[in-house]
Amino acid sequence: MSDELIQIETPFAFNEENQREFDELIGRYPIKEAAMLPTLHLAQNQTGYITPAVMKYVAEQLEVSVMKVKDVVTFYPMFFEEPVGDYVIRVCHTLPCALRDCKVVLEHLKEKLGTDIASETNLAKGTTADGKFTLMKVECLASCDVAPVIMVNGDLHKNLTPEKVDELLAKLAS
Ligand code: FES
Repeated sequence: MSDELIQIETPFAFNEENQREFDELIGRYPIKEAAMLPTLHLAQNQTGYITPAVMKYVAEQLEVSVMKVKDVVTFYPMFFEEPVGDYVIRVCHTLPCALRDCKVVLEHLKEKLGTDIASETNLAKGTTADGKFTLMKVECLASCDVAPVIMVNGDLHKNLTPEKVDELLAKLAS
């Protein structure tokens, strides 16, 4: 895909606060391209997901091709190319968590949220109608000793039970 072929619908630019943060972070890297991941995080925090306009903007800021940005966005599961909920709930389903009933936690979340599980190609499937939560299954979150675990945005929650899930959802909803 060439840069020209990417359809740009709504232009994107960092807001004032993120521009300041970007200016600060870019100074920490020997070359602009090395700041790709934090720059994409900054952009995704501003827009909720990575649109073609965001990719074009990031490519311009880092002086790389849009295709290079697209490759990174596609490779890392923490970047989204379509809208997700305010809270993205990642449920680990790798063996150590599976052995400690992550399935019970997942089923409980599905029932409480009234949604299915998002897939890589269909995030809407796992997103609640009010746009508040997106439910996903992920591989090991590197905290097997406190399984089963889930991650909500950047925060890890350990030793999950349906009761703990209820407490967490009540907190997030308030
Ligand atoms: S298997 Fe779930 S955190 Fe490692």
